[in-house]
Amino acid sequence: MVEVSEYEYEKVEEISNYLLERTKHRPKLGIICGSGLGGLADRLDEKDVFAYETIPHFPVSTVVGHSGCLVFGSIKGVSAVCMKGRFHPYEGYAAWKCAMPVRVMKLLGVNTLIVTNAAGGINATFGVGDIMVIRDHINFPGLSGTNPLVGPNDERWGSRFPPLNKAYDPQLIKLVESCAAELGLSDIMREGVYCMVGGPSYETVAEIRALHILGADAVGMSTVNEVIFAHHCHMRVIGLSLITNKCVMTWDSKDEANHEEVLQTGKSRAKDLENLVSLIVERCKQQLFDEKSVNY
Ligand code: HPA
Repeated sequence: MVEVSEYEYEKVEEISNYLLERTKHRPKLGIICGSGLGGLADRLDEKDVFAYETIPHFPVSTVVGHSGCLVFGSIKGVSAVCMKGRFHPYEGYAAWKCAMPVRVMKLLGVNTLIVTNAAGGINATFGVGDIMVIRDHINFPGLSGTNPLVGPNDERWGSRFPPLNKAYDPQLIKLVESCAAELGLSDIMREGVYCMVGGPSYETVAEIRALHILGADAVGMSTVNEVIFAHHCHMRVIGLSLITNKCVMTWDSKDEANHEEVLQTGKSRAKDLENLVSLIVERCKQQLFDEKSVNY
């Protein structure tokens, strides 16, 4: 028997009401910070910070490099809410639990979500420190039934069978690329397909070769559950992967993926990624205040 969401609409509403009663911010923009990328949250002005353990019904994050709080504030004059620390299936959380905070964001008023993550580079042309704007994803656990939408569907969020062919907003992908050019980051800017795997062990050589054949450019252990919830409830989504390591493609390679390298690359590129996100927000300000959400 598959475990289905314990977060009915009213419970998520309770969480968002708790927060709205305690902050003056009314965010239109949501940001989810990946491993080592929590600095994005620190950039917000006029912050209100809620540690996850103080928010009713909220899960708590258990990973080093994810400190675990929801930060409200403003960036370039836009009201935003930022998850500093996210939830991963490898921590033992169901897909719907990992994605639940996105629905809290929806009820807070968020209509655009920027999701960041650390990822291993599979595409041979990608280097450590490159930033990949996500064009599309492969949900490896999802293809075999581990999708956050499994279970009864509440139409107040979205439809039973949402399409995902435009989950990553094509217009916003163009905007990301033009912002990267404006910042002189075109040399490290890539576009590609993110593949989610369950982790926490890194992939074998055979697995990476298989993902390569399937069309994945980068691999990681997060993001797609959140993106599915976001698109389901009609948010616009931008996905950004920081390539923190090159995936090992041959058995005689001396390289090995490790979490320290992932965090270290996050630190050294964090500023570029933060600058990129700030400029994206500045450039799509108008859209963020536009109440229309995406149709599917
Ligand atoms: N594999 C999976 N997840 C990751 C990797 C990787 O190589 N790097 C950062 N997150």
